[in-house]
Amino acid sequence: MSTIILGIESSCDETAAAVCKDGKIINNIIATQSIHESYGGVVPELASRAHQKNIIPVINEALTTAGITIQEINAIAYTQGPGLLGALLVGSSFAKSAALALGVPVIPVNHMQAHVLAHFIEDPKPEFPFLCLTVSGGHTQIVKVNNFLDMEIIGQTKDDAVGEAFDKCAKLLGVGYPGGPKVDKLAQKGNPKKFVFPQSDIPNLDYSFSGIKTAFMYFLRDEKKINDAFIEENINDLAASLQFTLIDMLFKKLKKAAKQERIKNIAIAGGVSANSGLRAHLQAEAKKYGWQVFIPKFEYCTDNAAMIATSGYYQFKAGKTGTLRDSPMPRMSFSQ
Ligand code: KG4
Ligand code: ZN
Repeated sequence: MSTIILGIESSCDETAAAVCKDGKIINNIIATQSIHESYGGVVPELASRAHQKNIIPVINEALTTAGITIQEINAIAYTQGPGLLGALLVGSSFAKSAALALGVPVIPVNHMQAHVLAHFIEDPKPEFPFLCLTVSGGHTQIVKVNNFLDMEIIGQTKDDAVGEAFDKCAKLLGVGYPGGPKVDKLAQKGNPKKFVFPQSDIPNLDYSFSGIKTAFMYFLRDEKKINDAFIEENINDLAASLQFTLIDMLFKKLKKAAKQERIKNIAIAGGVSANSGLRAHLQAEAKKYGWQVFIPKFEYCTDNAAMIATSGYYQFKAGKTGTLRDSPMPRMSFSQ
């Protein structure tokens, strides 16, 4: 008999559902909430309301395109956290109510662990152990992945996430939200060495990205005093130099981690892993250091439910299901 898992993601501004059959992803349905664009960032209350509106149509589409009925599902995996509380509640409440009605287990999934397990949606799949640089709007982590459900965070940001640095600096450039993809596009036409921004250097394998945002803000303010059109005239070079600095900071610690752990299987995951500069840099470093690298397909970099359904599948196989009493709070560590 086959194992069918329905995965639900609602941690931020994407309402998503996917069906996983015997470890294979059948579909990956996403409703992106465009309402936040005019506010220049995700508005939590609006996100919750949009999830509420989208969740049933998105799940219906996932079931219909998979050619299954809801009664055929063996378990429902949902994003437990981290994420926006009101947004998480929509997904978790739906998952729990449906599971109760169907008499199937729920599987609470850690969102960051799911980003890592996005590497097991399709081939080529990394061999254990591997290091995963998990970079998103809320997190920046170097994760040592020993097995599907055994992961250890060996380095992480002490303040802002790198995605946040992309988004906030993009806002200062006036290029709109979400800033990461916009900076990426502009950077492709710019000179990454034109401007130099200070890099924070904190101990061990940890990161700090709050300083660059402030330095970037003061730099723009001072240049604009001399030339009011400074940003417009240098937009591509500013984006390229900013992106170069952020990537350089990410790789300094990643290289240190690879050396320290003696691991040559290196993966990237999370929304920022969609960045073309980061992907190209990883390929270049792979040649230099003899790494075998794993870069997810674009659709599996940013938030999606395929990664939740896949994580749910591995948890289900390991007998790790949840209860209706699980709260939608982030687990501090996802070593299980
Ligand atoms: O993983 P994700 O979709 O959501 C979170 O879990 O936070 O990541 C969203 C982040 C945002 O900061 C967004 O600007 C960034 O990923 N991002 C990018 C790119 N695409 C998305 N950053 C840089 N370049 C991109 N191409
Ligand atoms: Zn995410």
